[in-house]
Amino acid sequence: MADKDHVLIFDTTLRDGEQSPGATMTHSQKLEIAELLDDMGVDIIEAGFPIASEGDFNAVSEIAKRSKDAVICGLSRANFKDIDRCWEAVKHAAQPRIHTFIGTSPLHRAIPDLTKDEMAEKIHETVTHARNLCDNVQWSPMDATRTEWEYLTRVVEIAIKAGATTINIPDTVGYTAPRESADLIRRLIAEVPGAEDVIFATHCHNDLGMATANSLAAVEGGARQIECTINGLGERAGNTALEEVVMALRVRGDIMPYDTGVDATKLTHISRRVATVSGFAVQYNKAIVGKNAFAHESGIHQDGMLKNAETFEIMRPEDVGLTETNIVMGKHSGRAALRSKLHELGFDLADNQLNDVFVRFKALADRKKEVLADDLMALMRDQEAGDTVDRLKVKFLRVICGTEAPQSADLTLEIDGEDRQVTAQGDGPVDATFNAVKELFPHGARLQLYQVHAVTEGTDAQATVTVRLEEEGRITTGQSADTDTVVASAKAYVAALNRMLVKRERVEPHSDTKQVSYKDVT
Ligand code: KIV
Ligand code: ZN
Repeated sequence: MADKDHVLIFDTTLRDGEQSPGATMTHSQKLEIAELLDDMGVDIIEAGFPIASEGDFNAVSEIAKRSKDAVICGLSRANFKDIDRCWEAVKHAAQPRIHTFIGTSPLHRAIPDLTKDEMAEKIHETVTHARNLCDNVQWSPMDATRTEWEYLTRVVEIAIKAGATTINIPDTVGYTAPRESADLIRRLIAEVPGAEDVIFATHCHNDLGMATANSLAAVEGGARQIECTINGLGERAGNTALEEVVMALRVRGDIMPYDTGVDATKLTHISRRVATVSGFAVQYNKAIVGKNAFAHESGIHQDGMLKNAETFEIMRPEDVGLTETNIVMGKHSGRAALRSKLHELGFDLADNQLNDVFVRFKALADRKKEVLADDLMALMRDQEAGDTVDRLKVKFLRVICGTEAPQSADLTLEIDGEDRQVTAQGDGPVDATFNAVKELFPHGARLQLYQVHAVTEGTDAQATVTVRLEEEGRITTGQSADTDTVVASAKAYVAALNRMLVKRERVEPHSDTKQVSYKDVT
C-alpha cells in the first residue's frame, strides 16, 4: 500500500479548551498536560494566549522551554502588542509558532468597526510583523465558514503573501456540515494563489455535533492539520475531539488513508488527566474515552463478546490504553496496591505524594467498605485541588440541620493565610454554608449551578458536588467529593471562588478587540 499522507495534529486543549467556561487550569497542571501531549506525539501544542495575563504568559513560556518534539504555538489577536507578547513567550521553544487571528465574517468585522479594506490592510501588517519575528506563522480568519467567499479568498491570499505558513479555517460557531467543509478547503486550495505553498488547517466547533465529521471531511478536501482538544473540551459544545479524529483515521484507514503521529495507547491516560484538572467530567457514552465506550452490558452483547470480541468492537480497549484490572481496594489494601491502581487510572505519584494520598485513602476506606475506581478519581481530584496555591481554604465546618429551622453553619475559612470564623443561617445546611462563605469573603459572583451526584452506589457513597459561579460574564466551576455532602459543597463553592479570583486577572481572546486599538498598536 502507498504511504499514507500525514495529517498534523494541533492540540488546543490548553488554549481553546481552557477558554471553556469553568475549565481554568493551574500553571503546573498546564505544564503536565503539555508534557503528556508532547510525549504522545502531538505535532503542535497551542499552549495559551500569552497576552491574557501574567499567568498565561508564564505558562506558555515555561511550556516552550520544556518542549521536546512538538511545535509550541501561542495565540495573539491582530495587533503588534499581542504578537510581540506571544513571540516573547514562544521564542524559547526549539520550534516556536505564532498564531494570529481576526474575525473576518460580516458580524465579526462589525466589532472593531473596520471596512473590508482596513481589515485587509491590518491582516497584511500583522502577519508581516509576526513573520519578521518567527519563521512559523499561522493565520486564522475567525468565523471563516460565515465569511463571504470573495472576501475569504482575498484575505487568505494576503496572509499567504505576507508570510503565513499555515492557514487555519475556523468553523468558529460549529455551523458548517461535512460536504461544505470539504468543498471549502478544496476550493481555497484550488483558487487562492500561493495556496500550494502553505498547509491548510481545519478548526471545528461542535455546536451541531459535527466537529469530528467536519474535520475529517476537511482532510478529504486537502487540509493537512486538524485542530482539536482532548475530550473535545472547548467553548460551548467544545472543539473537535483529538481522540476521535486520531482513532477514526486509524480504524478507517481503508477509506481515509492518512496517518498521525499520535500514540493512541496514551489516549485514556491523557483524557483522564484533562478531565481531572479541568473539572470537566467525560460523559459516560463519549466515543473512545467515555466510561461506557468499551462496556457491554446487555446479555446478547456479552455473549457475543465472549465468543469473539470483534462482534461488537471495532477497536480493542488496549488500543487506546485502557488496561484496568479488577483489584478491589479496601481498608486492608497497602501502598503498593494503591500505587498500582492509581497508575492504571493515570496517576503516577512520587513517594511523598503517594503518602499523602494514602492517608486520605485510608480515611475513606474506613468510611466506605469498597473503594472503587471512581472513588479514587474523586479523591485524586480533591488532592490536586488541595495542592494548588489558593487564596481561600475550608478549615472547619459544622452544620446544624434537621426538622427545626433555621439551619446554621459554623465555618472557618483560611483567607490569604489568616483563619476567619463565622456562624451563618440559611434555608437548609447548604444555603447556610454558602451564606457563611459570603459573609467571610464578600463577592459579587452568582451561583449558576449546584449539582450533587453520588460517585458510587450505597448510603456510604461519596458525593461529588459541582458548583458553577458567574461574575461579569466570567464563569468558573469547582468540584469536590466527600462522604459528607455539605463538606463537599463548601469545598466546591470555595474552589469555584478561587478560580474566579484567578480569572478576574485575565483578558479573553474573543474579548472586544477595540480595547487595544488597531491604530495604537500597529
Ligand atoms: O474558533 C475559533 O475561531 C478560534 C480562533 C481563535 C482560531 O478559536
Ligand atoms: Zn475555536
